[in-house]
Amino acid sequence: MCGIIGAVAETAIKPVLDGLGRLEYRGYDSSGISLLSNNEIQTIKAQGKLTNLKQRLSEQVLDGECCIGHTRWATHGRASVTNAHPHQCGQVSVVHNGIIENYLQLKHQLAQWGHHFSSATDSEVIPHLINHYLSQHLSEEEAIAKTVAQLKGSYAIGVLINSTSKNLYAIKQGSPLVISQGNEGAYMASDAMALGSDSGKIYYPNDNELIKLNTHDITLCNDSSNKRIHYIKNKQSSDAISKGQHSSYMEKEIFEQVDLMKRLSVSNDTDEYSSINFNQINKITIIACGTSYYAASIAKSWFEKYANILVEIDIASEYRYRSPIVSEKELTIFVSQSGETADTLAALRYAKSKKAQTLALVNVINSSIAREADFSFEIYAGPEIGVASTKAFSCQLAIFYKMTLEAAKQREFIDANEISVLAKNFMQLPYLMEKVLQRCLEMKDMAKKLTKFSNVLFLGRGELTAIAQEGALKLKEISYIHAEAYAAGELKHGPIALLDEQMPVLVIAPKNGLTDKLLSNIQEVQARNAPIFIIGDRSNKQYINLQEDEFFELPEMPESIQALISVIPMQLLALYSAQQLGKNVDQPRNLAKSVTVE
Ligand code: M6R
Repeated sequence: MCGIIGAVAETAIKPVLDGLGRLEYRGYDSSGISLLSNNEIQTIKAQGKLTNLKQRLSEQVLDGECCIGHTRWATHGRASVTNAHPHQCGQVSVVHNGIIENYLQLKHQLAQWGHHFSSATDSEVIPHLINHYLSQHLSEEEAIAKTVAQLKGSYAIGVLINSTSKNLYAIKQGSPLVISQGNEGAYMASDAMALGSDSGKIYYPNDNELIKLNTHDITLCNDSSNKRIHYIKNKQSSDAISKGQHSSYMEKEIFEQVDLMKRLSVSNDTDEYSSINFNQINKITIIACGTSYYAASIAKSWFEKYANILVEIDIASEYRYRSPIVSEKELTIFVSQSGETADTLAALRYAKSKKAQTLALVNVINSSIAREADFSFEIYAGPEIGVASTKAFSCQLAIFYKMTLEAAKQREFIDANEISVLAKNFMQLPYLMEKVLQRCLEMKDMAKKLTKFSNVLFLGRGELTAIAQEGALKLKEISYIHAEAYAAGELKHGPIALLDEQMPVLVIAPKNGLTDKLLSNIQEVQARNAPIFIIGDRSNKQYINLQEDEFFELPEMPESIQALISVIPMQLLALYSAQQLGKNVDQPRNLAKSVTVE
């Protein structure tokens, strides 16, 4: 969740600060650096966005060869300068991402040894323990190894020690960490995207490998077999992370979807999906969180409808705690944009322990989830920086659509003609998405009207219920307007009690087999005087007296791709509502892009 970075280079502060900028999507409630300069560790921290830290740093001249940095998403202890990292004890400074579950016990033990703590964080025990073992004349490597042996939970840490050898250490257990050897320096970070242009070669350490970085070399300290570090090419380009002409990353990512669909509709990647034998599978279980979970929900509908495969879906944070029945003939699919979501990773490990086949569907192909699954497919969305996921959702759906076609072909549940119609529908995606995006200003008008309310109810039917849920999630996470979603037929079973002039209802209603049913639900809403907004087919407007800014017309489109098209107005509505209310669209409060804590 937090971002960590470290560099050993001539002017180490530069790559660290640049990297923190690229890591800010992981957390932005405070940040800090520790720099080894003139045989002294200088630690500078600031609350709030990274600009606050930069402001503080601009007040002084800082230079040194070893630097670590951190951008925080608070878990233990509120956002404050004291709780910001790095945490220092004597000559040891540490940045940490993850959670130390037994920190209270460790704190108690350290207090008995005479240590005093200044923060409310779990992380602060780490530099104290290292310092304690150094004071007992253990070597730097031994002190770190002995410290991590006592930690329970997940962590990736960077350790800076003020000694003549000027080493930086990195080690992880369960949390992401990447090491890079460049021409100008050696680097560590929680994410390859954080590394700058001097990071062509990267290494993903295994759990508990202690890595030592200095100006001469990067070494694996604790491997008795003298294992060498095998670098791979860094595919993440930091150049791809630019907003271009757009006002926010989220806006850029929404508009990128047309090109992404163009690329996915012509790419010849279906061979990849034929590596799965869908006839040998008795069930698919798809596990994910947040937006990725809603993609799973739509995939369930497709696999069942077109390929006749039983599909279960599960929220990753619940899966392993509900004692699921896992069979060896089951395919478990883990969907994650980041590939680092702690809940999804833990669910994957659980499924593996039960001998299920595991498949990762990720955007970051070298991520932990992709590396640990039996096999993995990339969604090819490119870096997604906006905390609210948009293009990753469409790309996840696009890959699921292709997988469904492959499954339908192998299982011969529908005939070749139907499969070819479904494939042709898919080809229409870029054109139809573009048509919707060209009319984005209409959604701006709708947002103006909707933001007058503090609550919104989203309704859909069939697989579009998941689009209603995704629309509600998008709206609440960036505009902070309270929004909930229901399958429209559920309205009369409870939520209808909420309806009055102050409870607007937004209905997703393209023309499909459920339109008539949905029209009845819309009537029920109107009869209770609730303001109504419709994203749907022209025929809806005919029946209901709506003003221009209460109706967005969806183009006519085949049913199989309606989820992919209907989500675009949902994304625009959230974006424009948040902008209308003056919120920070890319960095909403309390959230972070990659949730690497349970
Ligand atoms: O990286 P992942 O797809 O595993 O992330 C899952 C959720 O944390 C993520 O989709 C989250 O709900 C987004 N903020 C939604 O916009």
